[in-house]
Amino acid sequence: MRQLACLLVMFAGAATAAAQQYTGGPYVPTPQAVVDEMLRLAKVNADDVVVDLGSGDGRIVLTAAQRYGARGLGLEIDEELVQFSNAEAERLGVADRARFLQQDVLEAHIGEATVLTLYLLPAMTMMLRPKILHDLKPGTRVVSHDFDLGEWRPDRKVVVDLSEKYGTSGAFQSNVFLWTVPVRIEGEWRVTAARAGIAPFRLRLKQQFQHFEGGAAVGGRIVKLQQGEINGATIRFELALPRNDGGVRRLLFVGTVNNDAIRGEFRPPGGEAIGHWNASRAAARLPGPSRPATGPRLRRSD
Ligand SMILES: C[S@@+](CC[C@H](N)C(=O)[O-])C[C@H]1O[C@@H](n2cnc3c(N)ncnc32)[C@H](O)[C@@H]1O
Repeated sequence: MRQLACLLVMFAGAATAAAQQYTGGPYVPTPQAVVDEMLRLAKVNADDVVVDLGSGDGRIVLTAAQRYGARGLGLEIDEELVQFSNAEAERLGVADRARFLQQDVLEAHIGEATVLTLYLLPAMTMMLRPKILHDLKPGTRVVSHDFDLGEWRPDRKVVVDLSEKYGTSGAFQSNVFLWTVPVRIEGEWRVTAARAGIAPFRLRLKQQFQHFEGGAAVGGRIVKLQQGEINGATIRFELALPRNDGGVRRLLFVGTVNNDAIRGEFRPPGGEAIGHWNASRAAARLPGPSRPATGPRLRRSD
């Protein structure tokens, strides 16, 4: 809360007409120790494309290029900061892999990113959340300084102690949050398992960011699945499948989602893989004229 108050006070201090149009907030650099922690937490490496939304003086992208050999792109609305950052990239000898463009982050194409970094005011961070979930590939790491993404709970949170922040000396802290963009699996799936005794079944999944719940229609009843978890394009869940002898067989299913298909293995929890499974997305049922109308009807004037 103190972090937000400080940034908002700085925002008020910088409230020129130009600053007010920056809905992501004014230029307040992330302390270098926090930049280092953000890149460490995201495990940035030479294969990454790091995109910083609202890149300020370019320090996040420049550090990623210099220290880890990553490629990077900074998007920044302030032209002077863009020029400064590109000059820094030249000076540091990383202009071949770090570049900066003047652009509003809300209009940016971010689909190439494998790591996305943010230090923007909460309203803007939240405004970007649907774009992050929609435009980024599953598995992309998202790191934010100080501001979280609401009910999308982070995979990790690290607190960094600082002796300087907002250009002032003192005892400060910064929060660094990490998320992994989850694949979208909401809906209905047809599952087949390559093992005798497990008949094909349907799964109906309801997703909440990196978590999901749902049930499997097995042998005329619904078996609730447990521990549904998504990590990038990988999903896992447990099912207690009924056995012919009246007992149940608890199995852990792990699979990789590729658009409308899933392939993976299953095993007893804690044991070795005992078979393969795959799933395909069941076509969504379209509401047809034969279905009884149960919801409220719109009046002509609505
Ligand atoms: C708090 S600073 C962070 C700078 C840098 N990312 C860092 O962490 O050091 C936020 C930056 O976002 C820029 N910004 C604000 N709104 C923006 C927008 N709509 N599009 C692009 N940049 C924006 C500001 O000019 C400012 O430089």
